[in-house]
Amino acid sequence: MISVSRDELLAAYDLGDRATPRVRMNFVMSLDGAVTIDGRSGGLGDENDRLAMQVLRTLADVVLVGAGTVRVEGYGGVRVGEADAAWRESNGMAAQPRIAVVSSRLDLAPSHPFFTEALEPPILITHGTAPADRVEALAEVADVRICGDDEVDPAAMVDALAAAGLPQVLCEGGPHLFGSLIEADVVDELCLSLSPVLVAGDAGRIARGAPEAAHRMRLVHAIPAGDLLLLRYARDR
Ligand SMILES: NC(=O)c1ccc[n+]([C@@H]2O[C@H](COP(=O)([O-])OP(=O)(O)OC[C@H]3O[C@@H](n4cnc5c(N)ncnc54)[C@H](OP(=O)(O)O)[C@@H]3O)[C@@H](O)[C@H]2O)c1
Repeated sequence: MISVSRDELLAAYDLGDRATPRVRMNFVMSLDGAVTIDGRSGGLGDENDRLAMQVLRTLADVVLVGAGTVRVEGYGGVRVGEADAAWRESNGMAAQPRIAVVSSRLDLAPSHPFFTEALEPPILITHGTAPADRVEALAEVADVRICGDDEVDPAAMVDALAAAGLPQVLCEGGPHLFGSLIEADVVDELCLSLSPVLVAGDAGRIARGAPEAAHRMRLVHAIPAGDLLLLRYARDR
């Protein structure tokens, strides 16, 4: 069994220059391309995938997700462990990454664990014509940022996060948010865990909802971890 250590992964996923804004995606996918099993991603990952996810969070300034993932996964309480928090502080970073969500309709309850379990108010990214009553309700529990007039503009979002001192963005999905980030060509990296299972069924792909176009990527690493493969691809600009 091939095993990987946290230190190995911290070196393998090192970002180098932390000042230049960067959007790094993280997904787990089955060998046959399914993004979920039983409607969620959890069943696809194993301890090696979870270790890689912790390392990616440890290296991020902000962890970003789409509202669909928050609703379906009961997503909340994102934080790194004590050793990772100490590592971050010793490397000049805040102990914990911020968390952020992208939503247009703002169909998110202020009582959702995403808000109530956050150490600091999460950042809520929306646009200028989002429902005003929802903006008001969610402004009680989140730091609302308007990025775009009628829809969220991904490039404006990356700029706003960088201006807030959060240039290193780790996006943990989901597929619709990934599709819109690909379409806007703001994706710099894809960190993909290839899970050693065949799922079949009707699960979707890791990106959807955006027009088809080829955005060339180059391989940075392929690390076997047990039967799982940790792939790191960077945008070939
Ligand atoms: N395998 C994995 O690694 C992985 C990772 C994450 C999620 N998932 C799975 O993916 C599924 C959820 O998929 P999804 O595609 O619905 O999730 P999603 O991309 O997280 O969320 C889509 C929602 O995000 C908001 N959004 C995304 N892009 C936007 C944009 N450019 N402008 C404004 N709002 C935007 C909208 O929210 P509003 O509707 O609120 O306007 C939209 O409905 C779940 O089953 C989850 O388990 C898998």
